[in-house]
Amino acid sequence: MRLGVLVSGKGSNLRNLVEREFQVVAVATNRPSCGAAAFARERGLPLGEFSQRGYASLEERDTAMRDWLASLGVELLVNAGYDRILSAAFIAAFENRMLNVHPSLLPAFGGGMDAVEQALRQGVTQTGCTVHLVTEEVDAGPILLQAVVPVLPGDSVESLRARIQLEERRILPVAIEMLTRNLAARSSLG
Ligand code: GAR
Repeated sequence: MRLGVLVSGKGSNLRNLVEREFQVVAVATNRPSCGAAAFARERGLPLGEFSQRGYASLEERDTAMRDWLASLGVELLVNAGYDRILSAAFIAAFENRMLNVHPSLLPAFGGGMDAVEQALRQGVTQTGCTVHLVTEEVDAGPILLQAVVPVLPGDSVESLRARIQLEERRILPVAIEMLTRNLAARSSLG
């Protein structure tokens, strides 16, 4: 399966997918200076830079990004820390083919980039991560996998995030394989 990966952050998930030899054929970012983009350059992965300031609207940016991903033959798209809402047309173009990884047990603490902070603020004793299909409603698509992570006494945002990301690195590859099998089965049914 030819994977595209959308990134805005440090790139721990992207790095993990590359190290596990997934076929990453495109990395797209809205933040060319992020760690994930630096990793893509270092590894010589095709990198698409789509800063919002280059486009008149979010829709225009997403159209350019969609066309670029399509031109590289991306079959399955992984949203690995991409920090912007995607337009409806972009989501429709990858219907049932786009996964998102989110650092909480959805539906808890969805809808933003501060799920780890929210979990700590709320004083929950466990949180985790979720991999789900992307639909128009943010963080509300069908869930493929979740992993529970305990919140430990004395946890900081950094320590809790690090433990959650260990689990992300475990479940995202499994979810990609599940979706790949599912798409293959559907296409063989014609
Ligand atoms: C990941 O923890 C991911 O769950 C989170 O961003 C991080 C990106 O890390 N995504 C969200 O919060 C989405 N709302 P990475 O760049 O090291 O893979």
